[in-house]
Amino acid sequence: MQNMNKDIQEILFDEEQLRQMTQTVARQINADYSGQSLVVIGVLKGSFLFLADLFRQLTADCRIDFIAASSYGASTTSSGNVRIIKDIHMDVSNKHVLLVEDILDTGSTLSYLTEYISQKGAQTVRICTLLDKPSRRTKPVQADYAGAVIPDYFVVGYGLDYDERYRNLPYIGILKPEIYTK
Ligand code: PRP
Repeated sequence: MQNMNKDIQEILFDEEQLRQMTQTVARQINADYSGQSLVVIGVLKGSFLFLADLFRQLTADCRIDFIAASSYGASTTSSGNVRIIKDIHMDVSNKHVLLVEDILDTGSTLSYLTEYISQKGAQTVRICTLLDKPSRRTKPVQADYAGAVIPDYFVVGYGLDYDERYRNLPYIGILKPEIYTK
């Protein structure tokens, strides 16, 4: 069995820190949506662990659905071209919607998805992200709720991948550069 931990340069957020970050965000969301109905939309795949932990702490009248988007275009930097590869099935017209992400990076994905969900008639669309990397932003997107603002580190774990690996690490770590430069 390969040991993924050896590929990690440094643990950025351990399990206890992730728990506290999630609790802090949940409290903010609970205060803002008190007494309201909310459609939570998880952006696959990266958000799935954060969302699982967040969702059970939400106290509003919640429904849940999932969406998956992909950037296309040749290069590792985001082209800004986004397409839906798995759509929601729920009717969001006149609903309060909360998009939940693992990371807000260039903003291409959430810029597109916010507009996409708005066009489906949502009453409000807000963004909740576990991690926010504002230094990488190319689209004018801001998180309404963020667990942490981070520098431009290459992070994996707790849902976040490199080449589809490391999502099952229970912490968020900085990947050793030799892993993604080889
Ligand atoms: C990642 C992440 C966000 C997006 C953020 O998804 O989960 O959806 O990139 O980047 P952006 O702000 O530059 O658009 P990815 O395409 O890697 O898919 P995944 O969630 O399946 O890992």
